[in-house]
Amino acid sequence: MNKTSIKTICCIGAGYVGGPTMAVIADRCPGIQVHVVDLDETRIQAWNDKDLRLLPIYEPGLDEVVERARGRNLHYSTEIESAIASADMVFISVNTPTKTKGIGAGKASDLRWVEACARQVSKFAQGHTIVVEKSTLPVRTAQAIKSILISAQKGSSNKERTKSFSVLSNPEFLAEGTAIRDLECPDRVLIGGEDEDAVEALAAIYGQWVAANKILRTNLWSSELSKLTANAFLAQRISSINSVAALCEVTGADVREVEKAIGSDSRIGTKFLQSGPGFGGSCFKKDILNLAYLCNHFGLPEVAEYWENVVSLNVWQQKRIANIVVQNLFGTVSGKRLAILGFAFKANTNDTRESPAICIAKSLLEEGAQLAIYDPKVEAKQISNDLNLQEKFTQGSDVQKSEPAFTSDGGWCKAKSIFDAVTGADAILIITEWDDFRHLNWHKIYSLMRKPAWVFDSRAVADPKEIKLAGLNLWRVGDGASYEEC
Ligand code: UDX
Ligand code: ADP
Repeated sequence: MNKTSIKTICCIGAGYVGGPTMAVIADRCPGIQVHVVDLDETRIQAWNDKDLRLLPIYEPGLDEVVERARGRNLHYSTEIESAIASADMVFISVNTPTKTKGIGAGKASDLRWVEACARQVSKFAQGHTIVVEKSTLPVRTAQAIKSILISAQKGSSNKERTKSFSVLSNPEFLAEGTAIRDLECPDRVLIGGEDEDAVEALAAIYGQWVAANKILRTNLWSSELSKLTANAFLAQRISSINSVAALCEVTGADVREVEKAIGSDSRIGTKFLQSGPGFGGSCFKKDILNLAYLCNHFGLPEVAEYWENVVSLNVWQQKRIANIVVQNLFGTVSGKRLAILGFAFKANTNDTRESPAICIAKSLLEEGAQLAIYDPKVEAKQISNDLNLQEKFTQGSDVQKSEPAFTSDGGWCKAKSIFDAVTGADAILIITEWDDFRHLNWHKIYSLMRKPAWVFDSRAVADPKEIKLAGLNLWRVGDGASYEEC
């Protein structure tokens, strides 16, 4: 085989990273057969569903890309062995959550799925295979993958000794909600590795649609560390602005004016400066904790502490918002109905991993609140998993109640619409910046709520004038004026 010419790709893991990334590669490279495999049969069935609205992940523009390539050169299946065997290049795109027990619990990544993949690849691969690490991983994972691939061959049969591997790191920088745009027009593509042929083979794939000067080549460690560092820097900006938002609230400043003023300094820039309920998503927290774990491991506890504070401030911001709600509702939310608008960790995704909504909702449930949760894309089953609590009442029964049920047990239900959610509620919490929440009929909403009625806008997306004109009390993140009025 000419090492620089890839004809068949296998991607292990059909999730938020593997799914969209492979769809775009297949779309842009019709000459390459792309097989996306996963252990999860239901997920694969959903990727193959004729009804493109039922794809397992919601991502704007994904349906069109899948429609163009699926069945032509994009295939989803659970046939992992044969997909690995026929591939010139295998992407590892499986989940790497933070360890929940053992050494590094709560900090290090759990690499059991990556390890399982490496073992599968070493077993089923044939000839020369380029293995690309795509999952977010701690630095030096590529070395671990290499060790598994090499050691699996030692002492193996003659047939197996004909196998060879090159390992590359190709971190994913797509952000959910804008994944297709990020994949089609990336700021950069990063390829780390020592085997030049393998690096060029992967660069040639991206070169089909990405400008040559945007394809960066580094050594393996730089590539892995760049991913963690990029996410740590982005998350740090959010914790920084959220800390300033709290200060704005007590001093009478408006964080949006501060954001504009500091963002117009070209050294700071305007992006990633929006204060809110804190960052969520599968990467930021995990990557920072990984970074901190590495720092501690290499004898840099001060550096570890520096980054850990970015995460601590994020948790503090979420708890602070829940406390503000309780304080303003006369110090108790027990039995009160609260409408939660948005459960996804950001707009335009159905992903709820590390969503600020989870921490805020759990804090309010502990206080005995009755939550009516509305999100245009998140399923009730997902909310129930995240809150570790079954849905308490079904739509239509308790929904119209206007008096609180005096119970100290918190509960939640999924509301079918925004109006269902707010009916009988004492307060509305806007947690995700879905477009639907930007232009609401506040007069109608006010008429459906129990008085005094409150809006807590943690994303500052709704129009403050309209809200106040309609008669509602308003708290907005980082808004000194609304804080003084409270
Ligand atoms: C992030 C990185 O952006 C991406 O490059 C990496 O590959 C994966 O992690 P993602 O988590 O999907 O992507 O979304 P992102 O847009 O980065 O948002 C992360 C969190 O920060 C969200 O909860 C979002 O609401 C929050 N955020 C973002 C803010 O609170 N304010 C901002 O100004 C920007
Ligand atoms: P990410 O956001 O990193 O894409 P997801 O959890 O959305 O993470 O997707 C990871 C996918 O990887 C899941 O669908 C999971 O079933 C799949 N997976 C994990 N381990 C394996 C494995 N050994 N073989 C095949 N698929 C796997």
